[in-house]
Amino acid sequence: MQVIADIAPLRDQILQWRRDGQRIAFVPTMGHLHDGHLTLVRRARENADIVVVSIFVNPMQFDKADDLAAYPRTLDEDVAKLNSEGVEVVFTPSPEMMYPNGMEQHSFVDVPGLSSILEGSSRPGHFKGVATVVSKLFNMVQPDVACFGEKDYQQLAVINKMVNDLCMPVEIVPVPTVREMDGLAMSSRNTRLTVDERQRAPVLAKTLRWMSSQMRGGRTDYSELILDGNDQLRAAGLEPDDIFIRDAHTLLPIVEQSSKAVILASCMLGQVRLIDNLSVDLAPPISDDSEE
Ligand code: PAF
Repeated sequence: MQVIADIAPLRDQILQWRRDGQRIAFVPTMGHLHDGHLTLVRRARENADIVVVSIFVNPMQFDKADDLAAYPRTLDEDVAKLNSEGVEVVFTPSPEMMYPNGMEQHSFVDVPGLSSILEGSSRPGHFKGVATVVSKLFNMVQPDVACFGEKDYQQLAVINKMVNDLCMPVEIVPVPTVREMDGLAMSSRNTRLTVDERQRAPVLAKTLRWMSSQMRGGRTDYSELILDGNDQLRAAGLEPDDIFIRDAHTLLPIVEQSSKAVILASCMLGQVRLIDNLSVDLAPPISDDSEE
């Protein structure tokens, strides 16, 4: 496995593989890898001959300096895990290499609509930072296929739209959320939870499951349901940020034609912001044939 920090040697290596007709899969990460990331890596392997993983804590997508500073950095452990997975290249660019003249004057990719709603409205600039860094990484790695987790549901939607809108020749493979035994969605942020917070954290996934069962049972008073969900989180000591129930395809409010919904939730637990989501198949509207 090669660990490459610069663009030129990365491009040379990619070019060589491309000349040999190898198919390249890419998994972009911010490091502090857990089983969720390794699942992405395994999916990447199923889809290609060569797997490239990037580790870059992207300052452009953080709206708070303290969140960026607190983001865990565990490069040696990450490289060891990727080595065990048989990854061919770990790409580890520095912020100076990615943004040599700073971020203020840097060109950016903005995916309108999807970037400013939901998570994007509480974290202005976040998805612009994600879209910009992912498109830069795509240009460097030039993958045939790239894997993204469904845990970051809106991020996946933003990336899909960016790739479609800008005709990027990359197939995006969505990978289902990997969960701990107690249901907590795996996240690099989970290690920042205290022992007590970690015990309470699964309530987020449990609340989503409860809301989903209510919807599958026919409940459509979504505003009330969201209030009930918020109450459940608060009762367990989680501070709800937002819960949204949206059309799973458009991320817009549910309409009569919506066949699938997604519940997207974020909350604070101590100093840590947790997000999770769950998709729900909506029953087709019952047509009343007896009505003349
Ligand atoms: O999901 C992440 O870890 C990041 O948002 C990504 C896609 C690596 C871009 O920095």
